[in-house]
Amino acid sequence: MKQLIKIGKNHKWIFFLGIGFTILLSVSRSFIPKSIEYVFDTLLGEDVPNLPVCAIDLVYADDFKTHLAGVAIGLALFSLLRAAFMVVNSVAKAHFSENIARDLRNKMYSHLQNLSYTYHNNADTGDLIQRSTTDIDTIRMFFQNHVFNIFWIAGLAVSVIYQMVKIDLFLTIISLIVLPVTVGISIFYFKKIEKIFTEVEESESRLTTTVQENLNGVRVVKAFSNEQYEIDKFVEKNNEYKEKSLRMYYKMANYWSTSDLITFTQYCLTLVIGSYYAINGNISTGQLIAFIMFVQIIVWPIRNLGRIVAEYSKTTVSIARLNTIFDVEDEYVDNGTDKRKIDGKIEFKNVTFKFDDSSENLLDNLSLTINPGETIALIGKTGSGKSTLIKLLIRLLDYQSGSIEIDGVPIAQYNKKYLRSNIGVILQEPFLYSKTVQENIGIT
Ligand SMILES: Nc1ncnc2c1ncn2[C@@H]1O[C@H](COP(=O)(O)OP(=O)(O)OP(=O)(O)O)[C@@H](O)[C@H]1O
Ligand SMILES: [Mg+2]
Repeated sequence: MKQLIKIGKNHKWIFFLGIGFTILLSVSRSFIPKSIEYVFDTLLGEDVPNLPVCAIDLVYADDFKTHLAGVAIGLALFSLLRAAFMVVNSVAKAHFSENIARDLRNKMYSHLQNLSYTYHNNADTGDLIQRSTTDIDTIRMFFQNHVFNIFWIAGLAVSVIYQMVKIDLFLTIISLIVLPVTVGISIFYFKKIEKIFTEVEESESRLTTTVQENLNGVRVVKAFSNEQYEIDKFVEKNNEYKEKSLRMYYKMANYWSTSDLITFTQYCLTLVIGSYYAINGNISTGQLIAFIMFVQIIVWPIRNLGRIVAEYSKTTVSIARLNTIFDVEDEYVDNGTDKRKIDGKIEFKNVTFKFDDSSENLLDNLSLTINPGETIALIGKTGSGKSTLIKLLIRLLDYQSGSIEIDGVPIAQYNKKYLRSNIGVILQEPFLYSKTVQENIGIT
């Protein structure tokens, strides 16, 4: 979260703009039922001044029809203003979240560039891709919608409940009594959905890895005519992904129907008791209509509250998944500073090296000297460590004991990038970028 706040700080003005307009929109939402209430009460002759007097004065006309037309035009202008606010609000939200996502992607990509050879050797590429795309997108969505939704709900709750209480306190309590249940159910369901969602995401990551490995190793697949095996493997992973996604949608269907049932029971209750109130003259017809509208306005976002909670924990999972990468120190933490001119005398002095996951030394007390200008060929059976020797020389790998020196200076003292830019390496496994031949050759 600290990281995100740091990134978010660079875009704080657009954030506050978004929040400001969100609150403006949510509070102004409660004015619409008020005007409807006014229209109905005026129509039915139940003359209750339920709009601010200044607003009534503005549209007042002696003639009844002209008066109502004034209200209608007022309402239309008001809606137009809200539409303009909505545009600003959406643009601010999109800018804020897209900026955060872009910064995160850039940060992740640069970080990946600087991670060590050993890290990349052991990392699951599909998973890294998944984290740099889907996880960042989850974070983006959270910032685009749910962060602002919290303010939206808060603004609505305060303004709508205030208006409802102004009509009738008891009726307000009756209409909102089921809300805690709705919130509870919403949180309960979305927690469950979120768990399945993580599974869906993991399953998607396995699918990506399968495709990626298959495309990378397509020569092996062809050479061993393993196509059918690869297809079967993919179909299995693809089915698993579909099953997991379906489970998620089933749970969602359960949630929306249960929550719908509760919400409509709620409406019925409000309608019955409200009508009773209206018949008895405790409230006007317009007020009853406004009241029903208020309940409708407030219930929808509340049903989504669980979603925000779930999205929040989903986002924290995504942030944690990104952090496991950000927490890996980049290889330049351990870097020398020397940038002296290199003549090219290479010395290996009693170098011992073993891979972390192996119990035996691959190179054991190896010593050798190569003078500038000399041409040397290393010959050895496969797996004897020839390529490893070169990886040690350019510090893709670090040895355990002994020392490797260039012009009498241990290679650890050289600046890594400087050292590597002074050594030309043609790798055993060729790799071509999707660029022109010229560009591929031109890579320095
Ligand atoms: N990342 C790694 N982790 C563990 N062991 C590894 C790793 N990379 C290579 N090895 C092992 O280290 C040994 C030496 O590998 P290296 O690539 O240096 O051999 P080589 O002499 O270049 O072989 P070749 O003639 O086939 O190119 C091999 O047994 C290989 O399996
Ligand atoms: Mg080799």
